Amino acid sequence: MNAKTDAIAVFDSGVGGISVLRQLCRLMPGETMLYLGDSANAPYGTRPAAEIRQLSLNVAEKLVARGVKALVVACNTATAAAIDVLRQTYPDLIVVGIEPALKPAADRFPGGTIGVLATPVTLQEEKFQQLVAHYGGLCTVVKLPAPGLSELVERGKGDSGEAEALLRPLLAPWAGKLDALVLGCTHYPFAAATIRRILGDKVLLLDGGEGTARETKRRLVQAGLLNETQGKIIIENSLDDPMLLELSHKLLEG
Ligand code: DGL
Repeated sequence: MNAKTDAIAVFDSGVGGISVLRQLCRLMPGETMLYLGDSANAPYGTRPAAEIRQLSLNVAEKLVARGVKALVVACNTATAAAIDVLRQTYPDLIVVGIEPALKPAADRFPGGTIGVLATPVTLQEEKFQQLVAHYGGLCTVVKLPAPGLSELVERGKGDSGEAEALLRPLLAPWAGKLDALVLGCTHYPFAAATIRRILGDKVLLLDGGEGTARETKRRLVQAGLLNETQGKIIIENSLDDPMLLELSHKLLEG
C-alpha cells in the first residue's frame, strides 16, 4: 500500500534526468524525490533495445524496493525501449515516462519544420514513429540523432567547444530553417547554450520535462497521493564518483 509520504523515484542513464527532476521539484515542492542516475551504464542511447530494457528493469527494481509511490522514467531512450515492460512489471505503481515534446511543438507550429534532437535509439524505436504519426501531422519532422552528446554532458561539458564541434555539422545546415527544436534526450537541455550558438535565438527549444512533471502530478492527485508537506531531494548514482553527485547538484541548481 502506497502512502503520501513515500518518495517519487526518478531515473535516467546518468545526470540528464536532473533536467526532469528540476521540473518535478518546481511543480511538487512538498514531495520527497529519490533520483538514481545510472552513469555506470551510460550511455543507453546507442545500446540494443533489449539491453536498455534490462538496465531499466534493474534500476527500477532497486528503486521500487525502497518503497516508492511512483516511478518517473526521466530518460527518453528508456521510455522508448522499456516503458511497456516496466508497466507490466509494476502494474500497481504510477509509472510515467518522458517522451520527445513533439505534440507541443506541432501545436505551436502547424505546418512548420520541427527538428528532434535525440539518441539514435529514441529516433529508431516504434514509440517515436507513433508520436510522429499522431502529432507530426502537417509538420515536417527532421530527425537529428546526436550520439556522443550525452557523454559530454556526463562530463559537465554540455556548454563547451567539444559540444559545439559535435553539434555544428549536424545543426548548422538547419540554422534559420527550423521553427522548433525538440530536445528529445534529457541530457540535452544542459547543452542549450551550445545549441543556441549554432541555431540562433529565434528557434524555439522544447523539452518534455515540464509535461512529464505535470503528468506525474496529475496521476498523484488522481490517486490521492500528492504530498504537500516537506520536500526533500535525494540524489544517488550507480557510479561511485563524487564528481557525478557534485555535477548533479550543480545541474539541479542550474
Ligand atoms: N538521457 C537519455 C535520454 O533522455 C539518454 C542518454 C544516453 O544515451 O544515455 O534519452
